[in-house]
Amino acid sequence: MLLWLLTTACALAVYYIKWTYTYWQRKGFPYHEPKIPFGVLDAVRSREASLGTAIHDVYRSTKDKVVGIYLITRPALLVRDAQLARDILSKDFESFHDRGIHVDDEKDPQSRGGIFFLKGLDWRSLRIKLAPSFTSGKLKGMFDTIEEVGDKMVDYVSTQLSDEGVKEFEMKHVLGTYAIDIIASVIFGLDVNSFIEPDNEVLKVSRKVNEPTFGSVVRGTCQFLYPSLEKLFIRLGWREEAPNLMREIVKRTIEMREKQNISRKDMLQLLMQLRNKGQISADDNDWSAKATDKVVSKPMSIEIIATNLFLFYVAGYETTASIASFTAFELAQSPIALTKAQHDVRAALGKHDNKFTYAAVQDMKYLDLCIMETTRKYPGLPILNRQCTRDYPLPNSDLVIKCGTPIIISLLGLHRDEKYFPDPMLWEPERFLYSKYEPAAYIPFGAGPRHCIAQRLGRIIVKVALAKLLLNFNIELNAERKEIEIANFGVPIMAKGGINVRLSKRKTMQCA
Ligand code: HEM
Repeated sequence: MLLWLLTTACALAVYYIKWTYTYWQRKGFPYHEPKIPFGVLDAVRSREASLGTAIHDVYRSTKDKVVGIYLITRPALLVRDAQLARDILSKDFESFHDRGIHVDDEKDPQSRGGIFFLKGLDWRSLRIKLAPSFTSGKLKGMFDTIEEVGDKMVDYVSTQLSDEGVKEFEMKHVLGTYAIDIIASVIFGLDVNSFIEPDNEVLKVSRKVNEPTFGSVVRGTCQFLYPSLEKLFIRLGWREEAPNLMREIVKRTIEMREKQNISRKDMLQLLMQLRNKGQISADDNDWSAKATDKVVSKPMSIEIIATNLFLFYVAGYETTASIASFTAFELAQSPIALTKAQHDVRAALGKHDNKFTYAAVQDMKYLDLCIMETTRKYPGLPILNRQCTRDYPLPNSDLVIKCGTPIIISLLGLHRDEKYFPDPMLWEPERFLYSKYEPAAYIPFGAGPRHCIAQRLGRIIVKVALAKLLLNFNIELNAERKEIEIANFGVPIMAKGGINVRLSKRKTMQCA
């Protein structure tokens, strides 16, 4: 009897495995031979590759427009065609409006109210409410705070250098500290200087959030690609301490502001305005968040504000710090581009009475090209994901993507595909000037209704950092020209061994 049971269990297991891992074959799609049981995540599990590079490797292994892959047992579709990716994100958004990373309404605050995780109408309603916080008028209001943090970074680097000295800096550390302080001040509304107070509360918690421990890599990957496993972890009580600590900081700040009636020009203020007045004001000079009698039930709880501000931190920290650092690195290896960028910054300031204003930064056009080229070669997020929300006939074929299928778009794949970007490993800002690329394939901020809500803010943060560096320091490499190797962990692209450049003070320039 026992033998019979065992044999039946084994037969069922074999049948289940075969059935699961032949999904794409059965549906007639081209597919990537799965490594059982982890599928494309096998290289992530064995720490041979980060999530982005593991998916990129599959992208490079074929020429098909779509490839069936397995995220552990979950069949997902990797899209390799730029136009199809665009259609999914924009034209056919109604069939792909979710990210497919919603985990658990009951136990997971991010799924309950975080814009990145929400589905369908809940997402749409929150997006409409939050969008007015990211207009150029609101960004102008926050610009002085961003600039102040840029000056703190310049002060820090300057104090490390003698007038004639040259020193090596790990740019991800310098620009990561800058990004933390930007988030702390512009998003959480806290006045910190992590350059001189490296033990402040925000920085300490942030270190915990970003530590690439085994646990955080597993959780990060599952959140993105295997929500049911993430749900199991949460239900089993595997708590991540750092997000809760970060949310606590935000909650405390809101309560303090509400009690003391403090008003500042930052994102927290705008979300408090939404909570207390029912909407974010279209008037860019109106930052008041004093409750009015008109709003009887608050449209946003403190917990949802805290959850979204935490998400802004996650979405904004690594992306801005990396893009600024990779740009500094590429400029250090391209003396012609470096000189052009320095002139561009100087000339833009010249047009604005040598004042470092929002308008002057907008005029730094060559710097824009540099940032575009960096976001191409090193997309802040290496993949985009969506879930098919209704059966979708694949254009020009008999195949149908079934409702519920996870969709992965490899930005690293598209952006480094020579079919779309000739000589893709060459960092060449001018390719955008001379249209030497396929526009459909360039999607560093996503596309369609669910693209990055803070694209403008992200660009400004990166631009201010780079403009301040270019004005005040010479940038050079410590060794000969080389390619950055992508680290084998984490969801965002990170450089193995850091991003090291040498800085020295510029003689004729000073911080404007
Ligand atoms: C240069 C820096 C940045 C890059 C490259 C970047 C990139 C992206 C990408 C690729 C997405 C996914 C879009 C999609 O699925 O179509 C995204 C979404 C998002 N980003 Fe950014 N981002 C940056 C900065 C920021 C900053 C500073 C914030 C917050 C203050 C932010 C907040 C968000 C949010 C909330 C979403 C989700 C939007 C939604 O689901 O409606 N990002 N970002």
